[in-house]
Amino acid sequence: MVLVLFFLPLAFVLSAEASRVLELSDKFLEIRKDSGHWLVMFYAPWCGHCKRLEPVYAHVAQALYRTSINVGKVDCTRFSSLATEFSVRSFPTIKYIRDTEHQTFTGDRTKEEIVSFALRMAGPPIQDIKQSEKLQSLIMSNQLFFLYIGEKEGSLWDSYYYGASKLQPYSFFYAANVGVAKLYSNASQLPSLSVYKEGKQYTYIDTIIESQADFATINESVYKWLNEERFETFQKVTRGNINQILQTKKYIVMAVVEENKLFQISKEMEEFRDRIKAITLKKRDKYHKHFQFGWIGSPELANSIAMSVLPLPYLLVLNSTTNHHYIPEDEPSQLTEEAIDLFLEQIFNQSAPAYGGNSLPVNLYRTYFEARTTLGEMWWGNPVLTTLLFGLPLGFLSLIIYSVCCADIMDAEEEEEQLLHKKEE
Ligand SMILES: *[C@@H]1O[C@H](CO)[C@@H](O)[C@H](O)[C@H]1NC(C)=O
Ligand SMILES: *[C@@H]1O[C@H](CO)[C@@H](O)[C@H](O)[C@H]1NC(C)=O
Ligand SMILES: *[C@@H]1O[C@H](CO)[C@@H](O)[C@H](O)[C@H]1NC(C)=O
Ligand SMILES: *[C@@H]1O[C@H](CO)[C@@H](O)[C@H](O)[C@H]1NC(C)=O
Repeated sequence: MVLVLFFLPLAFVLSAEASRVLELSDKFLEIRKDSGHWLVMFYAPWCGHCKRLEPVYAHVAQALYRTSINVGKVDCTRFSSLATEFSVRSFPTIKYIRDTEHQTFTGDRTKEEIVSFALRMAGPPIQDIKQSEKLQSLIMSNQLFFLYIGEKEGSLWDSYYYGASKLQPYSFFYAANVGVAKLYSNASQLPSLSVYKEGKQYTYIDTIIESQADFATINESVYKWLNEERFETFQKVTRGNINQILQTKKYIVMAVVEENKLFQISKEMEEFRDRIKAITLKKRDKYHKHFQFGWIGSPELANSIAMSVLPLPYLLVLNSTTNHHYIPEDEPSQLTEEAIDLFLEQIFNQSAPAYGGNSLPVNLYRTYFEARTTLGEMWWGNPVLTTLLFGLPLGFLSLIIYSVCCADIMDAEEEEEQLLHKKEE
């Protein structure tokens, strides 16, 4: 509370009790070094996405109220020095700030995701579990997490620590001693490193460590394992996590369906998704090494990868290094286990026809496809606003052109597109 009082003269507190989000000014630059941990939203009053984030962010502040994390926001049109200092390039941007370090939140802007991000960043890269009850409740929660059991020394521990520091914004990493963890692990040796997901435990097999490899090799092997295992076997793919999923460098196999605003899916699409999911879980051992499976609930994202508007539901496979994509010729209803096996084998031995990719013409076409859909749908969503924006001075215009043309395909805005679909219904 001392902190809040200290802030009052510097900044005004917006409806203090109700929202618990502190409105920061450029004075923040002077005091941030001695003021602990901060979660800060950088916004601009004219930005629609910022307005939509506002209520979510208030809930985030509520959820973090009893932690040591301060929650604030900055109007970057008034305090542009802050935006510059923290290299903010788009609105809204959420950052975790501690002393001189800051980390940008890249996930989906839901309360759960933002709160998890803040809690991960607030602790050390690997958090200690001291009671069995805590471990038990983590396992019951069905959330994905990593667990190291054993003495905190040696190559496995050091590599785990390196990997966890790098992946801290995205996943939960824990450690426990044998006494605390023995009931909840079936790893056969110690120390052990496992991931818990979908009610199962998968353990890192350290053949490399036994072969007396040097530290760099072990380090690399553990990092690769952590990087691949941090997703569910059948992961929901969103704009917030697709760039992370691509880091696995695997083929990404996605069931594309359409979710409405209430996250509901039609029966037919659900049946399709569940069929793909069942195959995925059943054949995990066969495909896990080279394929990451999942599903997409927003067809716009999949369409911008495929660069066309395809009838739903469909299956899309993406080569994460070259960005080539593959679509089976069969009707979705005919995608049996055997058909999918055959299709994936053909992709793997590179005999299936590949589309798209990263070549210049393809990227130009993708830009064109994106710009056409985004602008078209922006117009549909709000003709007045679109005209207004485009009637504005050159600075704004270039800003918009920049965000339309240069944004990574995965970062493209989506709300306008949803508006269009609503109109069509
Ligand atoms: C124990 O290991 C097996 C595979 O060897 C795995 O299927 C099972 O889920 C594990 N047990 C727990 C509690 O995770
Ligand atoms: C170990 O791996 C991490 C993560 O990839 C990397 O940042 C670090 O430099 C590596 N350390 C060594 C000594 O190889
Ligand atoms: C993607 O394509 C490249 C080039 O054809 C190939 O070497 C690679 O194995 C493919 N698969 C993945 C998962 O990147
Ligand atoms: C690729 O795999 C498919 C399916 O197993 C097979 O029919 C085809 O002959 C293979 N092609 C090559 C070039 O190996």
